[in-house]
Amino acid sequence: MSYKDNPKEAVQPPDNSKRNLGRRDFVKLVGGTGAAITTAGVLAGAPAAVEAQDNPPRGKIVGPGTVQITLKINGQARKLNVEPRVTLIDALRNHLDLTGAKKVCDRATCGACTVQLNGKAVYSCTVLAIDAAGMGADIRTIEGLAPEGQLHPISAAFVANDAQQCGFCTSGFVMASKSYLDANPHPTYEEVQQWLGGGNICRCGTYRGLRRAVVVAGGVSVPAEGAD
Ligand code: FES
Ligand code: FES
Repeated sequence: MSYKDNPKEAVQPPDNSKRNLGRRDFVKLVGGTGAAITTAGVLAGAPAAVEAQDNPPRGKIVGPGTVQITLKINGQARKLNVEPRVTLIDALRNHLDLTGAKKVCDRATCGACTVQLNGKAVYSCTVLAIDAAGMGADIRTIEGLAPEGQLHPISAAFVANDAQQCGFCTSGFVMASKSYLDANPHPTYEEVQQWLGGGNICRCGTYRGLRRAVVVAGGVSVPAEGAD
């Protein structure tokens, strides 16, 4: 069963309450704390209603100094002052304290900075914040997957299947997986394998765990031979 069929129950995080704090527990704890902290900031923001006058008119020449823009992030309108050259990843991390998306290559290669723009996975290092604001895009970051501090089923599948080592690629993979599974709720095992071959890179080589996580979250049937 795909997480889409029953998002609350398809994938549950492991019950670690009776175990000593291991590496996986630590990652989960730190991830949950980060989400809770950033979520508090998000929830404290203004309600999401971005009006045309909240952003510079499209086509108007602005800069090089800072301009005020309003981004719609995780359901909230967030105002910030940035130079027009500032990318979305820098706006998120440096101006809004949303540090879940990681800046690694800064060159549209690794996928660590992946967020959703209107439901599609994008490299936020390749999008200007002012453009995202001007198009009134709905931006969702990894923090937005845990609005009440509860792991999203895809994140839970990553934890349960050891789909991370250093964790730098993890939020990008989770956001990319969400876009993929939202668009393809019932992929085949081969399709998941093929999809994992492009878009995001894990330098630690955790591909076996990554594949298991997407397979579990997607409710994918695993072929009898040659799979784990
Ligand atoms: S940091 Fe954006 S793709 Fe690597
Ligand atoms: S877990 Fe280290 S880069 Fe993927």
